[in-house]
Amino acid sequence: MSLSKYEPDQFPDITSIHVPDHPFWPSLSDAEKDGLIRDITAMLAEQNGVLVAHYYTHADLQALAEETGGCVADSLEMARFGTRQKARTLVVAGVRFMGETAKILNPEKRVIMPDFSATCSLDEACPAQPFIDFCDQHPGYTVVVYANTSARVKARADWVVTSGIAVPLIKHLAARGEKILWAPDKHLGSYLQQATGADMLLWPGSCVVHEEFKSVALFRLAKLHPDAAILVHPESPESIIQQADVVGSTTALINAVSTMPNRKFIVATDKGIFYKMRQAAPDKMLIEAPTVGEGATCQACAECPWMGLNSLQSLAESLKTGKNEIFIEPAIREQAVVPIRRMLDFAEGLKKGRSIKNDD
Ligand code: 13P
Ligand code: SF4
Repeated sequence: MSLSKYEPDQFPDITSIHVPDHPFWPSLSDAEKDGLIRDITAMLAEQNGVLVAHYYTHADLQALAEETGGCVADSLEMARFGTRQKARTLVVAGVRFMGETAKILNPEKRVIMPDFSATCSLDEACPAQPFIDFCDQHPGYTVVVYANTSARVKARADWVVTSGIAVPLIKHLAARGEKILWAPDKHLGSYLQQATGADMLLWPGSCVVHEEFKSVALFRLAKLHPDAAILVHPESPESIIQQADVVGSTTALINAVSTMPNRKFIVATDKGIFYKMRQAAPDKMLIEAPTVGEGATCQACAECPWMGLNSLQSLAESLKTGKNEIFIEPAIREQAVVPIRRMLDFAEGLKKGRSIKNDD
């Protein structure tokens, strides 16, 4: 791996990122919940809207997206799904970069979110100006950014990737002899570097949720369940990834539960994913990978606090008031759409099994 010529103290201080407690939503009676679901379904129809939810959102939202003809997906498929919709309004239940990506790809559509303050520690760890300076100081590198970044950061990138497409894309760039400047997830970056052998310069961001998985506790848990396969999202630290049987995007991990012969799985990612995993393989046993919260405490419980801002209540409120609509400066959008489209074209090419011609 290349060493950065950038001094570490020039990077933003990621320890100062404010991580809120997981939001507390008052529990709903069955009647209240049914009422909210009815209201939301009616408002989606009136507003010609479709609900696009990430796997980490609350099970109620995932179920509602499915029931109303929307989608529940990883961040790559969420981006793709929006572009195929006739609906005039995309309601994105997830975190802000997902809503921004939807707007960048669909400027003619109205994009709203249940809570616009739903950020992501990776996005927060990569403010636009220091990132642009970092890129300018490293000419000759192909700039590849994770989708978990702001529109401004994407606007400076050559490529955007999600975890679902990162390995083949980085392999493709490395095969062309390109050196890669990667931001912002250092764990995903180092996993990609090892998986592909690419020459990569890494920005030092991380995901506060995956950062909490504990390797010794995971090792002990795996010993107790030697027949369990260990499934890990690549935002996790190297010591967790090293113990994995499968490393992949949220979709890849869900697929692993239904396709692998194992009856048990230890899962190292946000526990919102269990809703889909149970649906995909109801007879299999799913075990949460241990975090700091292992044992009595719940300081960390593998739940993204920002994903947690999405609820039936906040969704109903945003549809009712129209608040949390996403707008992107046109000049930024014009630049940011280029690397996102490259990613989608690359993904399409892979699906069709033909070689990629993104040589620009
Ligand atoms: P996926 O693209 O794998 O769904 O990951 C998005 C994310 O933010 C995981 O923390
Ligand atoms: Fe960001 Fe981590 Fe939350 Fe995913 S789980 S949205 S990477 S903070």
